[in-house]
Amino acid sequence: MKKGKKLYEGKAKIIYTTQDKDLVIQYFKDDATAFNNQKKSTIEGKGVLNNRISEHILSNLSQIGIKNHLVKRLNMREQVIKLVEIIPIEFIVRNVASGSLTKRLGIEDGTVLKEPLIEYCLKDDKLGDPLIAEDHIYAFEWATKKEIDKVKKMILRINDFMIGMFRGVGINLIDFKLEFGRVKTNGKNEIILADEISPDTCRLWDSKTDKKLDKDRFRKDLGGLIPAYTEVAKRLGILHEQSNISAVNVTKLSSVKKKNR
Ligand code: TMP
Ligand code: ASP
Repeated sequence: MKKGKKLYEGKAKIIYTTQDKDLVIQYFKDDATAFNNQKKSTIEGKGVLNNRISEHILSNLSQIGIKNHLVKRLNMREQVIKLVEIIPIEFIVRNVASGSLTKRLGIEDGTVLKEPLIEYCLKDDKLGDPLIAEDHIYAFEWATKKEIDKVKKMILRINDFMIGMFRGVGINLIDFKLEFGRVKTNGKNEIILADEISPDTCRLWDSKTDKKLDKDRFRKDLGGLIPAYTEVAKRLGILHEQSNISAVNVTKLSSVKKKNR
């Protein structure tokens, strides 16, 4: 698969064209941002871990019939994905109150929600990804009611699957963010899961200790982001128990791969 020109650069990933007009390459950067780009850093090895973790989760979702954009992982930092027309909404799914929900509504951090709560944010960095109501989506034609009904069904299945997957490895899935896109399959428009699912886009707490194993380590200056993401990867069985991936090791691995390409 030959990498063509840069199509789009986001905060954590870059999309490149390929010789196939329906496929693109998604490159995972080491850049970390929070609070809508107000806080920025580069954390060596983060992109490598997110590439692996997202590949693992999306392949598992595919096996339970959740269609998604992943075609295959190419190397340490890149995967081939289907080019989708992204729906400009961030779908936030919450099982336990944390983050912006606790600040916005004064709910105590860690409050277990009776049912999963779905929130919608407009994907617009200039506006700071504002929270919107479902009716805004229809009023401004960002998606149709039929599409959102389909997305909601997919979200609940994804949530059920991910809660179980993480529970099995001693992790509580607190909340996460999903994105969906449209693709044409045999001339018919279809909604599929897109973007990434990784500790950058989920809140993951150790079931016994509540230790944060996600991007809150960066947002809240807790340190130890790479060991936490590595722990998630190890528990999911992506990295071997004995492999002690430090930031330095991960970087070395990715540069070796790059040289070999
Ligand atoms: P929040 O509490 O900051 O609204 O975040 C809820 C979840 O969504 C959390 O797991 C982080 C994830 N998220 C993203 O992946 N990207 C974003 O831009 C935002 C705002 C949240
Ligand atoms: N991803 C968003 C940003 O870069 C928000 C977040 O994850 O906290 O600002």
